[in-house]
Order: sequence, then structure tokens, then C-alpha cells
Amino acid sequence: MKRKTVLITGAARRLGAAFARHLALRKNYQIALHYNHSEQLATELQLELIEAGVPCEVFRADLQQIDTVPALFENVRRQMGSVDLLINNASIFTNDSIGAIECPKLLSNFQIHAFAPLLLSQALFQQQSDGLIINMLDARVRQNDPAYATYSLSKKTLLNITEYCAVVMAPGVRVNALAPGWVLPAANEEYEIPSKFPNLLNQMGTVQGLVHCLDTLIDNPFLTGQVLYYDGGEHLAGSPYLPTR
Ligand SMILES: NC(=O)c1ccc[n+]([C@@H]2O[C@H](COP(=O)([O-])OP(=O)(O)OC[C@H]3O[C@@H](n4cnc5c(N)ncnc54)[C@H](OP(=O)(O)O)[C@@H]3O)[C@@H](O)[C@H]2O)c1
Repeated sequence: MKRKTVLITGAARRLGAAFARHLALRKNYQIALHYNHSEQLATELQLELIEAGVPCEVFRADLQQIDTVPALFENVRRQMGSVDLLINNASIFTNDSIGAIECPKLLSNFQIHAFAPLLLSQALFQQQSDGLIINMLDARVRQNDPAYATYSLSKKTLLNITEYCAVVMAPGVRVNALAPGWVLPAANEEYEIPSKFPNLLNQMGTVQGLVHCLDTLIDNPFLTGQVLYYDGGEHLAGSPYLPTR
């Protein structure tokens, strides 16, 4: 059976790389692996997948350079054919309170978490074929985390984009989102594992559990405009983790 094509942004490491491995090895996708700085990791993952018999191409782009985002999608399409699945995964995790918001960080957060996903979604829609978009949110979109103002507000915008696109791109393109709680500690911050987790189930998530959620959104053709919270109920009653420093 012919492999479908998935474009995953920020896929050289961490959750993006786990999605790439899963979709390549278990779900019959060929991989358009986007990265920005992690060139070596991207190339290593590409070789790993090619050795496993899965076509994989790497694409470098800084998603803050918003004018170049349509060209990223076009390069993928030219090299790999039309994109069946887009996962808007790339992210930064900046820690700022309302009083500490600075223009450069504000812009970066919205460029990476909202504007780039919107332009990539538009490009997928304009291919004039069916497709699926999955946006990576955060359980914070249901809260108002005082410690992560620009991050939270830009992810809330991505939630709005998810619902808007689900409406205007139907019925050809389904648009859904995953909203994890704490699955992997942030790469740039240190956390203490608490004795009691601030969610209803008193536990943290696993990458494997998140991948199961991804499969649910991919495999069920009646789901669009859906946000799947993988957070132990944190979005209803709980608080996000705060860095210890
Ligand atoms: N980890 C969690 O537990 C958790 C919890 C809630 C939500 N999420 C969401 O799940 C997704 C994946 O999480 P993660 O922790 O694996 O993400 P991450 O490690 O923070 O970031 C993923 C990738 O985003 C890319 N990126 C950052 N700035 C970029 C830019 N300017 N242009 C292009 N790419 C850029 C980076 O690529 P390079 O390394 O190549 O530069 C990075 O490897 C994110 O959207 C995150 O918000 C994760």
C-alpha cells in the first residue's frame, strides 16, 4: 500500500521525533521531517528511518521567518508529493508574566505557535485534496497560567485556529488538536518531580499514551474540531507545573 505523507514541524527530537518514529514504523507514512537548529539529530533520525525502509526527507526552516513558511510547504510537496497529514508541533516554552512581556518574545510565540501553523494549514487546504491537520496545544489553553503569558496566549490562539479551520476547511480537511499536560519536562527548564501531581489522576503522562491519542485523531474519520486533552484532567482542576528555577 502506498505510504501517505506527513509533515511534522520540530520533529528532530522529543515529542516530534516520537511522532515521526511511530507514524513511519507503525502507520505507513513517509516522513517530511522539519527542524530548525537540530540538524544533526534530524539527519540521524532520517538515516534511522531510511535504514528501516521508510522514505524520509529533512527540511530546515525558522518558523519565525513567516514569509518563508509557504516555501517550506511547497518544498515538501515538490520532493514528496501532496501532504496528507500536517502536525504543527514546533514550539518554544518562554516563561513570562504579564508584566514581563517583551515584544520579541511575544512575536516569536505567535509566529511559531499561531502564524506558521495557520499558513501551513492554508497550504495543505490549497492542495485541493483531502487531508488532516493536528495542532499541538497545551492543557494550559483551558487555564490562565500567570507564569507563561505569551506561551499560553499564543497556544489559545492556536486553539481558535483549530476550530476556525475545522469549519472553513470541511469537509475535505479535518482539523484537530492534542493538548498535553506534563508529558516530558521542558528541555530548557529544571523541574522537581512532585510527590503529588496537580491533576485529577495524580500521575504524569507518557509519550506512548500521547501517541495513542494521536492515533485516535488520525484513525477516526468522524472527528474534526476536536481537542483531546491528554492531561489527567489538569484542564478541569489542577495547575501546570512551575519550574524550580
Ligand atoms: N513536553 C510536554 O510535556 C508538553 C506539554 C504540553 C504541550 N506540549 C506541546 O507539544 C509539542 C511538542 O512538545 P516538545 O516538548 O517536544 O517541544 P519542544 O522540544 O519544546 O520543541 C520542539 C521543536 O520545536 C522547534 N522549534 C522551536 N523554535 C522554532 C523555530 N523558530 N522554527 C522552527 N522550529 C522551531 C525546535 O526545533 P530545533 O530543535 O530543530 O530547533 C524544537 O526541537 C509542543 O507544541 C508543545 O507546546 C508538550
